[in-house]
Amino acid sequence: MIIRDAVGSDIPAILDIYNDAALNTTSIWNDGAVSLQNRERWWQDRRDQDLPVLVATGEGGTVDGYAAFGPFRPHDGYRFTVENSVYVRDGARGQGVGRGLMDVLIERARLGGFRVMVAAIESGNTPSIALHRRCGFVQTGHMPQVGLKFGRWLDLVLMQRALA
Ligand SMILES: CC(C)(COP(=O)(O)OP(=O)(O)OC[C@H]1O[C@@H](n2cnc3c(N)ncnc32)[C@H](O)[C@@H]1OP(=O)(O)O)[C@@H](O)C(=O)NCCC(=O)NCCS
Repeated sequence: MIIRDAVGSDIPAILDIYNDAALNTTSIWNDGAVSLQNRERWWQDRRDQDLPVLVATGEGGTVDGYAAFGPFRPHDGYRFTVENSVYVRDGARGQGVGRGLMDVLIERARLGGFRVMVAAIESGNTPSIALHRRCGFVQTGHMPQVGLKFGRWLDLVLMQRALA
């Protein structure tokens, strides 16, 4: 597995992973798919802010997953806190890809001078909660029924990890 910064030609693979998660899981609380332009704008926006978008590639250079972080909240006082996202394609899960991405992402955040990384996870997402716990995150919040998807109210678990 190789972990590296995403380049423009990775965006279609990132789009596929994102849309699969959006359409089939409760990990993204959107109801529909997004366009290639949407993900290109998102990637460009992260680059403009000097924030990382990482991909993990496997056999033959296939993109198996990606991870990124961005501002937790827009107000000045939160500028040392970031919120992460991590997605592994169906078929590549449970093989250490998420862990590999998170280890590099955390190091990038530390080197960037950030102090805390936050993860906001649907409470039933056992793999993501396990991954984040494995990466040193602790649960610091549980917000009942703040989301609605697939006709169900969803709870949000907040986890965080100190970076300093
Ligand atoms: C959550 C996700 C990113 C985890 O990535 P992954 O590559 O499958 O996870 P890894 O193989 O690196 O596993 C990391 C740790 O989590 C644990 N874990 C992974 N899947 C698990 C599962 N289904 N049940 C319990 N624990 C699990 C592993 O045991 C591992 O710990 P270990 O090192 O002690 O064995 C991946 O399942 C995914 O993309 N899911 C859909 C999208 C999503 O939910 N993203 C997160 C949004 S908050």
